Amino acid sequence: MTERPRVFISRTLPGGTGPASPLARVLDAAEVDVWPDFPPPSPDTFATRARDVHGVLTTLTERVNAEFLEACPLLRVVANIAVGYDNIDVPACTERGVLVTNTPGVLTDTTADMAFALMLAVARRLADGERAIRDGEWGPWHPTWLLGTEVHGSTLGLLGPGRIAAAVARRARGFDMRVIYCGRREVPDFPGERVTMDELLAQSDFISVHVPLTDETAGICDRSFFERMQPHAIFVNTTRGGVVDQPALIAALHDGQIAGAGLDVMTPEPLPVDDPLLDAPNLVLTPHVGSATHTTRVKMAHLAVDGLLAGLAGLQPQHLVNPEVYAQAGEQKQ
Ligand code: DGY
Repeated sequence: MTERPRVFISRTLPGGTGPASPLARVLDAAEVDVWPDFPPPSPDTFATRARDVHGVLTTLTERVNAEFLEACPLLRVVANIAVGYDNIDVPACTERGVLVTNTPGVLTDTTADMAFALMLAVARRLADGERAIRDGEWGPWHPTWLLGTEVHGSTLGLLGPGRIAAAVARRARGFDMRVIYCGRREVPDFPGERVTMDELLAQSDFISVHVPLTDETAGICDRSFFERMQPHAIFVNTTRGGVVDQPALIAALHDGQIAGAGLDVMTPEPLPVDDPLLDAPNLVLTPHVGSATHTTRVKMAHLAVDGLLAGLAGLQPQHLVNPEVYAQAGEQKQ
């Protein structure tokens, strides 16, 4: 390509506008249109703004589906500023030769910190205590007030043995926890012992979910899942709300099938203030901020820009989700 490529960026990028910022790197290489508002563009606006571009930098709120791809015939790269890419129809991108990249690795420890924060917050009733102080309900010290659950020395069950799960497991070691995990494959060197799903649910005092949202994992944490957990156990989710059958979780909390839950992700996002989830007891919620630190978000933006610029330059991006694009291109040439 001799002319400068065109890029649409769907949100203001972290890292500012200085010379080495993620935005400056894109501006150096391309003609850039940045969506300026805090809420994301609507699907129609997204397609209209991106219709003549060669690359888009997206976040998990933008849906890249067949309709969008149809509207953007010049598109060559979709660089998602997230490790998850359930907002993207990857097969539809592959079919059209569009590269898809994500940002694994740089948010691993930050998200693991959040999973651990939620475990601690629910177990030690941080939100209840904070509310009590603000509501003027803090009476004299009492030996039976605001009693929680021990985190140290307990058993942590991890669903999905990926990078973030391993980082949570390493943190758990510092709390003298026994770590078990359930996954389709044995992961050599995973800091925990592999067990079946039944064993995970029956033995864990805390369960933290770390599977990506796919057709296979949608609603995997369902009624039977919560029924098989121990009644004193605490459930934590920092991956995607869609892996949980939310009505089943709400029922499990109301019925005391489990002791509590900590969720950084839910359905829908943002959660309406009248959603029944908010009436469930022993629940700590955070608004999908697992990777939300200054340092990590800037790293994610840089990594996404790396993928975008490599793809636009005709190079294979490091974190390419659909390498089949190249195999397919080879086949088409033959
Ligand atoms: C991701 O990267 O997938 C997160 O959910 C956003 O940090």
